[in-house]
Amino acid sequence: MTSHPAPPWLVDRLRDHGGWVPFSTYMDWVLHDPVQGAYGSGRLQVGPRGDFATSPSLGPDFAALLAPQIAQWLQQQPLDCSLALVETGPGEGHLALQLAEALAADWPALAARTELVLVEPNGGMAERQRRLLAACPLPCRWLSFEQLALAPVCGVMLAHEVLDALPVERIVWDGAQWRRQGVSLREGAGPGGGSEAVQPQLQLDTGEPLPTQLAAQLEPLGLAVAGAQRAAGWCSELHPGLHPWLQQAAAALKAGQLLVVDYAHEAWRYYAPQRSQGTLMAYRQQGASNDPLLEPGHWDLTAHLCIETLVTAATTAGWGFLGQRRQGEALLALGLAQRLHGLQQQDPAQLPQLLSRREALLRLVDPTTLGDFRWLAFARGVAGDPQSLFLQDPPLA
Ligand SMILES: C[S@@+](CC[C@H](N)C(=O)[O-])C[C@H]1O[C@@H](n2cnc3c(N)ncnc32)[C@H](O)[C@@H]1O
Repeated sequence: MTSHPAPPWLVDRLRDHGGWVPFSTYMDWVLHDPVQGAYGSGRLQVGPRGDFATSPSLGPDFAALLAPQIAQWLQQQPLDCSLALVETGPGEGHLALQLAEALAADWPALAARTELVLVEPNGGMAERQRRLLAACPLPCRWLSFEQLALAPVCGVMLAHEVLDALPVERIVWDGAQWRRQGVSLREGAGPGGGSEAVQPQLQLDTGEPLPTQLAAQLEPLGLAVAGAQRAAGWCSELHPGLHPWLQQAAAALKAGQLLVVDYAHEAWRYYAPQRSQGTLMAYRQQGASNDPLLEPGHWDLTAHLCIETLVTAATTAGWGFLGQRRQGEALLALGLAQRLHGLQQQDPAQLPQLLSRREALLRLVDPTTLGDFRWLAFARGVAGDPQSLFLQDPPLA
């Protein structure tokens, strides 16, 4: 297994923890440490010129298509209640700003009752969001889930490409039992066995058998039976952070809808015998790697969501499941084809901008990339049978 030089801060951290930590602890440190973490420090940049692009970072069309869905859900709240659009993990703040602008332009009465609430645990990212949202047409507040729980709001909550940044546990079948994978520090003699100084190395290592709480999660995923036909060394992820996150989200939203948009697979696909190394990926400067130990604190680390794990975690945390679609289908239901067609009627003097918008719209529905993202909607405290535009059939052209 490849090892990589450990930066001094991680050497100290790992020594303090006895030289080995579960993968989830390592992932938390390298993403969210306020000084060294890729998000915590604000080092990672979202966008086509940054480390990786997301749908809203490609331009305003994604938010323009999503806005009618947000408006529909906000309109399902009682008329006399003030409203919030809560974005968790807003990254650069593109989506929040574009949605606020769309609401203010096309639903002014609704916008007049709506505030924007940003939930961003990483100070470095929040700083950039504040700068971008200085021009926001809606009032904005940055609050933690804990602060929101003291005075929960009504409205809509978004989690766009945020749950894939929650630390995952890596599990390994060693041929006889399930074990937890972790990151260890290798310190020792130089290559010749001498006492020359050698930089300590990081390495992925299989550690203790799975603790009971994690082992209990294997059964619904079809992994409980010994080995379940997995070869020794087969490795994947579990998502213990999802349930606590969804509980916190539920405590923050008195009534309304939650839209999760992320990479996700059904359990049968996620945990298929042939997917022997899980879904963990690292991203930096538009490059991708499956090595999570590269330059810790400089790469984004993400793992797909497992749909059944997410839905179970949400329902046990008090959310009702409204349904799910692939992003391609969701955006077609929200009028993407009409928007694409509408570009042809625009002023040809704007040709370069029109071509780049056309390219962005096609990327959003490309089934091999962004179009394969899942949109999963949940609700709590909403009266009646709340409808969702994105779950309907696409309009006829
Ligand atoms: C991949 S970026 C997504 C940015 C944006 N939503 C977009 O799609 O362009 C992940 C964002 O989630 C934030 N984040 C990470 N963990 C979080 C958590 N537990 N709760 C809320 N936000 C979190 C990161 O700091 C970052 O702003």
